[in-house]
Amino acid sequence: MTRAAQSAVSDETAAIKSLEAQHLVQSYRRAPFVLSHGEGVYLYDTEGRAYLDLMAGIAVNALGYGDPELTAVLSEQAGRLIHVSNLYHTAPHAELAARLCALSFADRVFFNNSGSEANETAIKFARKWARMRHTTGPAKTELVAFSSAFHGRTMGALSITPRPQYQDPFRPLLPDVKIAPYNDLDAAAGVIGAGTCAVFVEPVQGEGGIHEAAPGFLQGLRELCDRHGALLIFDEVQCGVGRTGSLWAHEAAGVTPDIMTLAKPLAGGLPVGAALVTEEVASVIQPGDHGSTFAGGPLVCSAAGVILNRVSEPGFLAHVTEVGAYLKERLLALGSPQIAAVRGRGLMLGLQLTLPAAEVIAAGYDHGLIMVNAGPDVLRLIPPLILQKQHVDEAIEKLAHIFRLLA
Ligand SMILES: Cc1ncc(COP(=O)(O)O)c(C=O)c1O
Repeated sequence: MTRAAQSAVSDETAAIKSLEAQHLVQSYRRAPFVLSHGEGVYLYDTEGRAYLDLMAGIAVNALGYGDPELTAVLSEQAGRLIHVSNLYHTAPHAELAARLCALSFADRVFFNNSGSEANETAIKFARKWARMRHTTGPAKTELVAFSSAFHGRTMGALSITPRPQYQDPFRPLLPDVKIAPYNDLDAAAGVIGAGTCAVFVEPVQGEGGIHEAAPGFLQGLRELCDRHGALLIFDEVQCGVGRTGSLWAHEAAGVTPDIMTLAKPLAGGLPVGAALVTEEVASVIQPGDHGSTFAGGPLVCSAAGVILNRVSEPGFLAHVTEVGAYLKERLLALGSPQIAAVRGRGLMLGLQLTLPAAEVIAAGYDHGLIMVNAGPDVLRLIPPLILQKQHVDEAIEKLAHIFRLLA
């Protein structure tokens, strides 16, 4: 009997699920329980059951749940100022932008509210940059992206997310998009040329199944972009901000982009996005070119300040590397026949399965584990970055049991 079936569902749980079923647009397949609160790396449902969280709100909740510093800063800032407008100066967004620049290649930041929006910003900035800087010759409007990429669901970001099931119902998309196979530099060289405005790439692909850029791939793209006068854009919405054990996932490659987009973990669970850019890119943007009502608000930016300070600590990043390596080692040692491969680094791992990931995820719910997929047969482990080795041991014990059950 499953955990869910063992205890009868309370009236409260049933009422919430019924309201949701009646009144929310049914664009998600939701888990069978209702979440009520969290503490550390655990979530609790309205029936009082605990779940070890291995997905962190899809790579968002870097510090887990109820972090005392984050909670205190948020309550203090909420009492002081939640929102004004980008028409006014406030300390939190100025300080956050300065910190992001100090910690990266970037000279300037444009804030957004999500990863998709940050990529829309990158598309618009790249298009304007190409228009201003390449005034003669053929049109320079093409966007290049890669197979299995995920850049978001808004129309621009969707246009560079080459998945028929996401794109086809919503055509027509942006024109002038070219797709090459991920990690294939020769193929990239075939599509990047005089007409290329920008190349979008995830240094570690998330939704597409946890694929790391092969050695030399990002450097090769940098060279191609430089040769053809195109911008290189790293989408670190999922892999950035400490997830892979370095602050930015591209660090190991030894090259920097012209634009980097961030979102998910940056504000510890509040909606945020950011496009980090060089002075050269920023210099083509004038007042009125782009904007957002909510982006960069004082509450969100004060939360992001906490996350960035904590995650950028060398000790914190070393912890992610160490616990991630331990998790990977223990997953490999499981020896379950259903695990064909383990990919990724830091706390961004993918298990290539020989059965549908949905079956493992459903069994996880019954055994107090929350996990998410990355495609039909990849189980993605992207826990809060504060995960400890004892949590890895608990997860491995549960996974071993689940794989035995499903054998
Ligand atoms: C690499 C990457 N880019 C962009 C996005 C879109 O972000 P959002 O869902 O915040 O719009 C995602 C979301 O999963 C992502 O993983």
